[in-house]
Amino acid sequence: MNTVTVELILNGKKIGPIDVAQGTMMIQFLHEYLNLTGTKFGCGAGICHACVILEKTKTGHVTHRTCIKGVGAFNGMNLMTIEGHANIDVKTEALVLHPVQQAFIDHFSFQCGWCTSGFVNEAIGYYESLKQQPVVQSELRAALEHHLGTHVCRCTGYVKYYQAMENLILSQPELIR
Ligand code: FES
Ligand code: FES
Repeated sequence: MNTVTVELILNGKKIGPIDVAQGTMMIQFLHEYLNLTGTKFGCGAGICHACVILEKTKTGHVTHRTCIKGVGAFNGMNLMTIEGHANIDVKTEALVLHPVQQAFIDHFSFQCGWCTSGFVNEAIGYYESLKQQPVVQSELRAALEHHLGTHVCRCTGYVKYYQAMENLILSQPELIR
């Protein structure tokens, strides 16, 4: 069997080097080699964006669809999946969600949840970018449409995802200009 050697950072932890069967898609690697099943497989054709994960780069965040990219393409990257965004509070030992995750829950944004990890990763990438480059308030809706508009929700829960992000961003003046 031909293999590809993979080494990367995932959710803050070093993974590999590990030999993976050539042709393995990134989502298969997450599910079958790392037992991280929070990234969801939808269309398998790069259309629905359910399988999106996040790359942290020196200049910001980049999203990737994991159903159409082989694991070798992710070699050396610093990646986040849905499993990596929440933290444990050291004092209370309570689970603290990322503000985007909390906003989606507070707004009842999802139903079956199949699209949620993709929405969360895309939305976190955009939210974090606003800390460097705040958005003009009058352009916020269009910007959300631009960033989240490629994600399909088969339960048609779009409105509450968008409302959650709009309210979260408007509640933080430092993200608006
Ligand atoms: S499952 Fe990857 S884009 Fe739909
Ligand atoms: S909540 Fe079911 S696909 Fe979006």
